[in-house]
Amino acid sequence: RVFARIAGTGSHLPPRCLSNQALADQLAQDGIETSDAWIVERTGIRQRHFAEPDVTSSMLGAEAARRAIEAAGCQPQDIDLIICATSTPDMVFPSTACLIQRELGISGGPAFDVQAVCSGFIYALTLADAMIRTGAARKALVVGAEVFSRLLNFKDRTTCVLFGDGAGAVVLEAASEPGIVASALHADGRHADILCTPGAISGGQVLGDPFLRMEGQAVFKLAVSALDTTTAEVLAQAGRSVESVDWLILHQANIRIMQTAAKKLKLPMERVLVTVDRHGNTSAASIPLALDFGIREGRITRGQSLLLEGMGGGFTWGGVLIDY
Ligand code: ACO
Repeated sequence: RVFARIAGTGSHLPPRCLSNQALADQLAQDGIETSDAWIVERTGIRQRHFAEPDVTSSMLGAEAARRAIEAAGCQPQDIDLIICATSTPDMVFPSTACLIQRELGISGGPAFDVQAVCSGFIYALTLADAMIRTGAARKALVVGAEVFSRLLNFKDRTTCVLFGDGAGAVVLEAASEPGIVASALHADGRHADILCTPGAISGGQVLGDPFLRMEGQAVFKLAVSALDTTTAEVLAQAGRSVESVDWLILHQANIRIMQTAAKKLKLPMERVLVTVDRHGNTSAASIPLALDFGIREGRITRGQSLLLEGMGGGFTWGGVLIDY
């Protein structure tokens, strides 16, 4: 039997980093009031990175990919599948994955995007795992890359303080042992309107609101219950208990969501990887960014069991259990 295992990870953040205070000062110039204290207390976010206007998701994603390929000890030419999770593609088409492929100087293998907003990386990882297990690919590059700052309405303080830009990537390779042990994906389109960027291109214009909109409390409630059911589902698939999980790596949206999820699971916060303080919510990039930070800081080590879970617009959610 063939399984998929993580061979290497990488990430990249644009250099411009804004503290809460710096963002609050910037917003104050337009008469928008917020504070470091409010943002930290409600979200756990202390800073975020914003890309310069000429920097795109594919550029951030390609840099994260190079680092993941190097960590995997392989060459770009060895990659035979690229899946990019993004809601902020460089263009309507071609896909960001194709642009990353070009940037890496390779060609021939399939490359495509998945759009599941903040669950996108979990969706992409699950797809790559399935393609490796069926023999359709042997070395897959899975990227989460976002420039969410492009979608933010800086006149709306309830959303613009929450998000940041960045990219993370994983090289998944065929192996005789797992690797990815279990996974689950879900969506419920009935909740499409609580978290959306409804604008669409038509006749040379954007029709509808081009900015991100969110009903924060409705999203919060759905997120917590989605994480709870996903954990139970993925662990049951693998026949394992929550005690066997060394690291819970959740989509980094809000520290309070993570604390609530961990409390429900009776998992101490020491086993929950937190990077939301440093990165803000980077949507599809947040989980691979957190994973790469954990690995490079030496907190996540080979042989550990990792439970990755995401939730986001759609509404979408899912989880992947990995023996790293
Ligand atoms: N600075 C100061 N005050 C603010 C700000 C701000 N940036 N934003 C809102 N407020 C005010 C509001 O106006 C409100 O004031 P009022 O009481 O006078 O009306 C007050 O703070 C409380 O607002 P709430 O919306 O009730 O605040 P809440 O505690 O719910 O926190 C938050 C808002 C942080 C958005 C929270 O609901 C949340 O985290 N929701 C989940 C969001 C999330 O995780 N989204 C991403 C998941 S999926 C994805 O990543 C795309």
